[in-house]
Amino acid sequence: PSEKTELIARIKRLLAEREAVLVAHYYVDADLQDLAEATGGCVSDSLEMARFGRDHPAKTLVVAGVRFMGETAKILSPEKTVLMPDLDATCSLDLGCPVDEFTAFCDQHPDRTVVVYANTSAAVKARADWMVTSSIGLDIVAHLHAQGKKILWAPDKHLGSYIQKETGADMLLWQGSCLVHDEFKGIELDLLKQEYPQAKVLVHPESPANVVALADMVGSTSQMIAAAQTMDSDTFIVATDNGILHKMRAAAPGKRFIEAPTAGNSATCKSCAHCPWMAMNGLRNLAETLENMHHEIHVDPGVGQLAVRSINRMLDFAA
Ligand code: 13P
Ligand code: SF4
Repeated sequence: PSEKTELIARIKRLLAEREAVLVAHYYVDADLQDLAEATGGCVSDSLEMARFGRDHPAKTLVVAGVRFMGETAKILSPEKTVLMPDLDATCSLDLGCPVDEFTAFCDQHPDRTVVVYANTSAAVKARADWMVTSSIGLDIVAHLHAQGKKILWAPDKHLGSYIQKETGADMLLWQGSCLVHDEFKGIELDLLKQEYPQAKVLVHPESPANVVALADMVGSTSQMIAAAQTMDSDTFIVATDNGILHKMRAAAPGKRFIEAPTAGNSATCKSCAHCPWMAMNGLRNLAETLENMHHEIHVDPGVGQLAVRSINRMLDFAA
């Protein structure tokens, strides 16, 4: 058998032996997504990953994704062991929102309700009133706006301005961005649309406003996959990390998916849209993690107790 086949068999055996479950994001390697599904784990967006990890009875969760996803799992289940294939897998949004600066920003605006995106550290979530993911951020801000609340939003400026535009809420925005979605280009996307006039455009809201403006549908990764299944079109242009195409193609067989252009034109940059941190998750380091039960996520319990409130507000709202 090939090395890959052997690794997959070894991981399946180790997951069973360790009574562990694999929770994967759509942006990780296709083999890891398939493994998660084949072994009773899940592959999903950030909201569903959090809920699945919280509700699953396994004592050990292995999170194939980036650090904030492992931390959220640990905060929701402090009694569980949470492992990740590579603890250095971070996120430009998390990196761009250090807790000291963020706390100072919040302290300057005590009249505002603090809403943070899931893609932040545990310490930032601990300072927030609400945590949201891309699938539910708009509904939660609309709800807060209807109560007359003014919002302090961090860290993704594109997601923040999209929500601001849709809801009309008073939002003060932190200026962070996702290094993958920030690369999508509106002018080139417009040209690509002219090449494929029948195509529908699916956009993740971490993308710049001029890309979102060309979308037929804007939503989280799970919502984008659902749209590919249900929307009446054979061809889609997809503006998010290209790791999603594996699941999208499986969910909507026979349909055609074209990556949105990231630079210059679509011919020169075919696969730029892939998160370098998501790519740090592989079969080999997953097998080693399970073998050694190392790369464990730790969250300071005091920080976790504060952060869990902002996460639970979202989960209660979503329920
Ligand atoms: P969702 O899967 O929640 O849409 O989030 C995308 C993301 O940025 C993960 O890194
Ligand atoms: Fe962060 Fe963007 Fe990577 Fe998601 S794709 S983990 S938002 S850098």
